[in-house]
Amino acid sequence: MTTPTHAPALDPLAVLRGIASLRKLAGSYPAGHPMIGQKLKELEDVIAGLLRTSNPIRIDVIRGDVFLDGVASNSENQANQQLLTQLSALGIDSIHILEGVQRDELLTVAEFLWQYTESGESMSAQLAARNVQHISLGRLLPLDTRWRSPQWADAPTGPLDPDYAESLMMAQKTWEDTASGKPLDVVTVRDLVQLLIYKVARSNAALGQILAVKQYENLTYCHSVNVAMLSLLLAKQVGLNEAALAALVEAALLHDVGKTQIPLDIVRKPGALDKAERRMIEAHTTLGAEILIQTEGLHPLTPTVALEHHRGVKGTGYPDLGEAIPHPMSQIVSVADIYEAITGARTYQAPTPPERACLILARIAGEKLNTGLVKKFVNAITFFPVGSLVRTNRNELGLVVQTNHREPLHPVLTLVDEETYKPMGQVDTSERESSGGYARHITQSLPAPDGLDLREFLEPAKAA
Ligand SMILES: [Fe+2]
Ligand SMILES: [Fe+2]
Repeated sequence: MTTPTHAPALDPLAVLRGIASLRKLAGSYPAGHPMIGQKLKELEDVIAGLLRTSNPIRIDVIRGDVFLDGVASNSENQANQQLLTQLSALGIDSIHILEGVQRDELLTVAEFLWQYTESGESMSAQLAARNVQHISLGRLLPLDTRWRSPQWADAPTGPLDPDYAESLMMAQKTWEDTASGKPLDVVTVRDLVQLLIYKVARSNAALGQILAVKQYENLTYCHSVNVAMLSLLLAKQVGLNEAALAALVEAALLHDVGKTQIPLDIVRKPGALDKAERRMIEAHTTLGAEILIQTEGLHPLTPTVALEHHRGVKGTGYPDLGEAIPHPMSQIVSVADIYEAITGARTYQAPTPPERACLILARIAGEKLNTGLVKKFVNAITFFPVGSLVRTNRNELGLVVQTNHREPLHPVLTLVDEETYKPMGQVDTSERESSGGYARHITQSLPAPDGLDLREFLEPAKAA
């Protein structure tokens, strides 16, 4: 058997992997066996590497993602997922290791985990009884991650496009009513779909507010309105006809309606979920489909999308529906859903900027998402076309003279005078400040004024 000799210096998964295999070895071989010694040595090396940059080493598993000291690490491959499932089945979501950890303690923890069965006594008490002082294991407490992350508002705060603001209000009322046990109000849903298709979708300002990073945690109605708009954007790229668009917007709007039936403290829980809680969250798909099937007057695909939106194109995901491939409408909503969720804030995680969100979509295309749809979506969000007039967060007026392939929300502008439209020099809105943030964001897209000749603005950009 060959043993990998490399010790990835900053890979928290290597610690988890080491502990998991040591646990198996400790259960299968007598103490003192050379394989145990070898594994212990490897694990010590990895831990020593990590301790050089952080003491204590804090490894937390939150909803299937591994965090080292609060920073997410890439854990997407399947072997890792298996490992995480194993650990979480043992009740381990968090491992903290302090400097000074001894080889004996590592072995004791491995043996402890091999024999471990849930009892009334806490893990820390049991480890202390075994003289383990530098390692703690356990489930995450919500406070564990909350203290280190900012608290986000749960709705947009800045001034919103008026039609978008109205649609959010309508959605909020519908959601609150449904959560309080009233039947879903189909008339309002229908009005909301019309408002989204005929007004909100025509406002670039609203689309900008939906596509941009969202400094709020939007778990319910905002998320639903945003996913409906993004699904619409994508569906237009795909070329769906009007009737299909209306059906899609309705389905996307209601895809998470099952969450109204789940206690909010579980929906928003920042720490790791236990099995029962995870099952409850996953049930929002079937609960939603049930509510929607019972509601008269909805499109027949609406419950289907609620049921399937967490299923991947290869038949993975939940709920378990065998190998069935999700309906194309569900596939569209899945792309919009993931983009929306990651560009919004979470209790334990800052929002992901659009361009990074696109990279994440690209990474899961093929396995989870439909690759063709992801490509079309990324193209669709390049929505500040050359020649459009925009306003920046510094209250400057500018004309888009060049789109930025990598950063679709940050084109190059020629700033113009408010009154005369005289050009006042170019700025690249994708430029960053020393803090790492963008120096400028586009906050508004404006109708082109009559009589403005674009040629004089575009010429210099071509030459550049
Ligand atoms: Fe969902
Ligand atoms: Fe969702």
